[in-house]
Amino acid sequence: MLIDQLAAFVAKDAQNKTRLSTLRKNLVEKHCVGCHSDFGLKAGQSDADKDVAVLRFMLSQDGWIYPGDPASSRLRTRLRGIGAEKLMPPGGEGLPKTEPGYQALLNTADLFVAKMVPGTPMRIRLGLPQRKFFSKTNKECGEMPAAKVVVVTQRNAVDKLGFSRFYRPADPYLNGECSDDDGYYVRQEFLVPVQ
Ligand code: HEC
Repeated sequence: MLIDQLAAFVAKDAQNKTRLSTLRKNLVEKHCVGCHSDFGLKAGQSDADKDVAVLRFMLSQDGWIYPGDPASSRLRTRLRGIGAEKLMPPGGEGLPKTEPGYQALLNTADLFVAKMVPGTPMRIRLGLPQRKFFSKTNKECGEMPAAKVVVVTQRNAVDKLGFSRFYRPADPYLNGECSDDDGYYVRQEFLVPVQ
């Protein structure tokens, strides 16, 4: 399952594991519990269990984390109060000024999301007539909006000539024919580096 796969990526990446612990201790336990079902935290959990609980909670929430694409992730927009929706935690407007290290925590959260999947973030080119993406078995899976960021796991897909394999839980753009587990493929020339 997707959450298991993502949790495994985090577990294997020493830096992201550390970022997760930092976020759990200094952000979630200080500013988020009491709401959101306590992010799955329960008395008696070990530190390692707490980290995993918080990660799984966030991954199970709709749209909180798009691996590789913090800008699209609600975790970032809510923590920074970007857009019309309410800042999290509610009333936390002063935190970046009043709590030492809070601003760094917000940056840690972005990096955590950006680095969650090993690969290279790339952007879907602008100005293309259609930006269809496919499954391994050539099923059409949907269409990506221009400028979306995807994490490319194989620039030259070994099993599909002329395509790159990418990882993005592409849920908002899927037509229902494909699943994340097979991976997704898009024509190489549709992708440009993220500046
Ligand atoms: C006092 C309770 C409370 C606290 C503390 C709180 N939240 Fe929330 N949060 C809510 C409520 C209620 C909503 C739904 C209403 C809304 O969208 O504003 C929400 C919405 C959100 C959303 C958007 C959910 C969605 O599906 O669109 C995110 C992301 C979020 N919170 C993250 C956090 C994080 C991260 C923290 C800690 C830094 C936090 N919240 C602290 C009550 C809280």
